[in-house]
This record gives sequence, structure tokens and C-alpha cells, in this order.
Amino acid sequence: MPRISQLYFKTAVIFLIVGVVMGLNMAISQDHSVIGAHAHCNLLGWVTMAIFGGYHALNPQKAEKRLAMIQYYVYTAGIALMVPSLYLMLQGNPAMEPLVALASIITLAGVLLFAFIIFSNGKVVVTPSAPSYR
Ligand code: HEM
Repeated sequence: MPRISQLYFKTAVIFLIVGVVMGLNMAISQDHSVIGAHAHCNLLGWVTMAIFGGYHALNPQKAEKRLAMIQYYVYTAGIALMVPSLYLMLQGNPAMEPLVALASIITLAGVLLFAFIIFSNGKVVVTPSAPSYR
């Protein structure tokens, strides 16, 4: 598996742990006010990052490009800033709002970079077929 896929899966599982702990904390406390932070952590952190990692594993030629690593850092910075700032905002700290807005814009930049990677041409790799002994 390419290095970037490993990185994406390692980062994604950290967001899954944080998201699940947040979910359990909501369930136990019966205070669901941070539902938005929980959902974004799990869906943009765990699910989307795992899909990014899977895409690069299926397209190893694109995974080697510098742009893939830049996209990883931009997207991860966006989510890593969004989850705690959104959590604090939903807990009643309106001062966090500009940070949430900034994090959202960084995340959008990461998503657009990923779209660019998807639409860019990668070399077609021809997988040799297994020899036939008949
Ligand atoms: C042990 C694991 C988890 C627990 C205990 C948990 C708990 C919760 C709780 C208590 C809510 C609030 C429900 C409400 O107020 O209506 C919630 C909402 C939500 N959770 Fe989780 N969750 C877990 C894992 C996940 C995962 C893995 C995902 C996504 C991959 C996820 C996605 C969501 C979403 C999208 C909502 C919002 C649903 C809505 O607004 O209708 N959760 N979760």
C-alpha cells in the first residue's frame, strides 16, 4: 500500500476513536449538543479519509505525486482544526466561530485538491495476466 494510504488510514482511525468517544460521551451524558462535531469528526475524519486512502491505494501512480501529499496535509489540517473548534462552539463558545469558518475553508481547499487529483490524468498501469499452462 502506498505511504499516503497508510498515512490516511492511520489519521482516519484516530478521528474514528475521537468521534466514537464523543458519541459515547453524548449518549452517557444525554447531552447531544455537540452532535455536529461528532458527525463531522466521523464522516469527514474517518469515512472520507478512508475513502481518500483507498483511492490512492487503487491509483499508486497518483499516490507518488507531491500533490497527493500536499492534499493530505491541507485536508488533515482543516479537519484537525474544525473538530475541536466546532466542539467548543457547540458547547457555547461563540468566539470559536471564525476558527470554524477558517477550518471549513481549509477543508474545502483539501476537497478541491482531491477533485483535481481525481480528474488529472494518471498513467494507465497494465497488470500482467497470469500465465496460462493449458
Ligand atoms: C460507539 C459509536 C457511536 C456512538 C455511541 C454514537 C452516538 C451518537 C449519538 C448519541 C448521537 C446523537 C443522536 C441524536 O441526538 O439524535 C449521534 C449522532 C450521529 N452520529 Fe453517532 N455515534 C457513534 C458512531 C458514529 C459513527 C462511526 C458515525 C459515522 C461514521 C456516526 C455518525 C453520526 C451522525 C451523522 C449523527 C447525526 C445524526 C442525526 O442528526 O440525525 N456516529 N451519534
